[in-house]
Amino acid sequence: MSTTYGTFPGSRPRRLRTTPAMRRMVAEHRLHPADLILPAFVREGISQPVPISAMPGVVQHTRDTLRKAAAEALEAGVAGIMLFGVPEDAKKDALGTAGTDPDGILQVAIRDVKAEVGDELVIMSDLCLDEYTDHGHCGVLDEQGRVDNDATLERYAEMAQVQADAGVHVVGPSGMMDGQVGVIRDALDQTGHEDVSVLAYTAKYASAFYGPFREAVGSSLKGDRKTYQQDPANARESLRELELDLAEGADMVMVKPALPYLDVLQRVADAVDVPVAAYQISGEYAMIEAAAANGWIERDRAILEALTGIKRAGANMILTYWATEVAQGLKQGL
Ligand code: PBG
Repeated sequence: MSTTYGTFPGSRPRRLRTTPAMRRMVAEHRLHPADLILPAFVREGISQPVPISAMPGVVQHTRDTLRKAAAEALEAGVAGIMLFGVPEDAKKDALGTAGTDPDGILQVAIRDVKAEVGDELVIMSDLCLDEYTDHGHCGVLDEQGRVDNDATLERYAEMAQVQADAGVHVVGPSGMMDGQVGVIRDALDQTGHEDVSVLAYTAKYASAFYGPFREAVGSSLKGDRKTYQQDPANARESLRELELDLAEGADMVMVKPALPYLDVLQRVADAVDVPVAAYQISGEYAMIEAAAANGWIERDRAILEALTGIKRAGANMILTYWATEVAQGLKQGL
C-alpha cells in the first residue's frame, strides 16, 4: 500500500538527495580552482609581511613573500592574481604619482610576479589612484575638492601604460570614473599593448563592506566614495554601466561586492556574452572569519557556500582572498 502526498504523487525531489554520491552527480554547479583569482597586497619598504588585523590570514606582502604567494596560487591551480600596491606613506601625493612611476611598488611587483610565474598565472593589476593619493580618493580633485572625472582619466591612461609596460596581462580599472574603459583601451592600443585586456569593474557599489580593505592598503580616505561608486539601492543602473563598458571595449566585466549583490550579478551575467567576474570583498571575508572565530558558524562550509552562491548567480571568475586555500582543498577532493 502506498500513500500519496500532495498533488504530484510521483514527484519526490528528495530522491536526488539521498547519498553524497547522488548529490554530487546532480550538482548543477561546481567550484573549480580555475574559477578563482587571488587578490594580493604588496607593500613597499617592509622586510616582513604585515598582518591585516581585520582580515585574519591575509597580509601585506613583501616583494619576496608576494612571489611565493603567486607560486603557491599557481601550484594550487588558481587562475589568476590581482595585485594591489601599497606605497610608503611619504610617497603619497595629491596626484598619486607613485601609481604612474615605472619603479612604483605595483609596477615592481608586476615584474616580480611575472618573473616568478610567467604566463602560467594570469597577472592582473588594480588600476586606481586611491592607494597612491594622500587624500585617499580614486581620482584627482578639483579646486573644490571634488573628484575630477576627466582629469582622472588622464592619470588612468598613464597608469595603464606603466602597468602594461611592467608586463601585466589584465588591468582592472576600479575607480568608477565615466569613460575609464575607453580611455584605458586607447592608451593600451596606442602604446603597443593591444593584447592586454581590460577587466572592467562595471557594477561597483559604495559599500560598507570595503572597510577592512582600507586597512589593507593603508588608505587615507576621509569621507566616502558615493559620488562615483553606485548606490546600493540601484540595480537597473548597473545595466547602463554595463552597456557603456562593453561599448568602450571591456573584455570582461565585474560585479562588486558579491554576496549583497547577487541579483545584480545575475542580471549582468544574463545580459552579456563576455566573461563575468565577481569580487568577494574584504568585508565578506572578515564576516565569515569573525563569525567562525567565535564558533558561530562552520568556517569551511560557509566559505564554500558563499562561493557556490556566487558561481550559481552567474560568475565565471571569483576574486576571493581564500583562493589558494580553496583551490588546494578542491584539489584534494573537498
Ligand atoms: C579601489 C578598490 C577598493 C577595493 C578594490 N579596489 C576599495 C574601494 O573602492 O573603496 C575593495 C576590495 C575589498 O574590499 O576587498 N582601488
